[in-house]
Amino acid sequence: MKDFRAMKRRGERISALTAYDYPTARLLDESGIDIILVGDSLAMVVLGYQDTTSVTLDEMLHHTRAVARGVKQALLVADMPIHSYDTPKQTVETAKQFVATGAQAVKLEGGASHVAQIEAITQAGIPFMAHIGMLPQSVREEGGYKVKGRTRSEAEALIADAHAVEKAGAFSVVLEIVIPDIAKQITNAIGIPTIGIGSGEHCDGQILVTHDLIGLFPWFTPKFVSPEARVADEIRRAARAFIERTRLGNALSNSGGR
Ligand code: KIV
Repeated sequence: MKDFRAMKRRGERISALTAYDYPTARLLDESGIDIILVGDSLAMVVLGYQDTTSVTLDEMLHHTRAVARGVKQALLVADMPIHSYDTPKQTVETAKQFVATGAQAVKLEGGASHVAQIEAITQAGIPFMAHIGMLPQSVREEGGYKVKGRTRSEAEALIADAHAVEKAGAFSVVLEIVIPDIAKQITNAIGIPTIGIGSGEHCDGQILVTHDLIGLFPWFTPKFVSPEARVADEIRRAARAFIERTRLGNALSNSGGR
């Protein structure tokens, strides 16, 4: 495992992207990404659920196994789905199941409220990535994806969360849609790297859902994402070309073995 704290000290930015299948994982890994996360965003961008609260542990394990087959150099982190870490005992059992699929680290959502679970993971010797700020698994209670750190009390709670997860043994912490100035304060206050998503440029690294980065989920793109590609358009173009070719009876270009 790379020394992510040392990268932070040296000012080297950490790059992280999600993957849910073998070819994407292999492509990202070959591109030199530092961290691959099997995010529970799987729920929306691959499985078609409305939010991350519907994805099951079995679904996450199945996709983590596929991703693990494609990863050689990146750190493979798996997201623990909702209700798979309700108690410290259950948390360690779940984390071990992810390690058995090939994950090298796990992530769960929560700060000070989840210190017992985080300590249980790190004491079991499993590297842990924290996730604070907007917590997608709480989207229903929160009534939407809301920016965090707007009020003084929210900002103080976030800083306390960051210190709590560092003390509990996390090797890094994801900051999801946190006000950039608060993300900067957190980044300066702790020794472990902050990995931002929609939290501004001052984090020690950045993470995105790959489908957002490459334009593969065109029905919704978060405001903070600038896609680098339009893969959905390419799929539609190729499918239409194939449909056209087939309707014209031009099978010649499809002959031969694979
Ligand atoms: O599930 C997910 O994709 C995440 C993000 C931080 C990228 O947790």
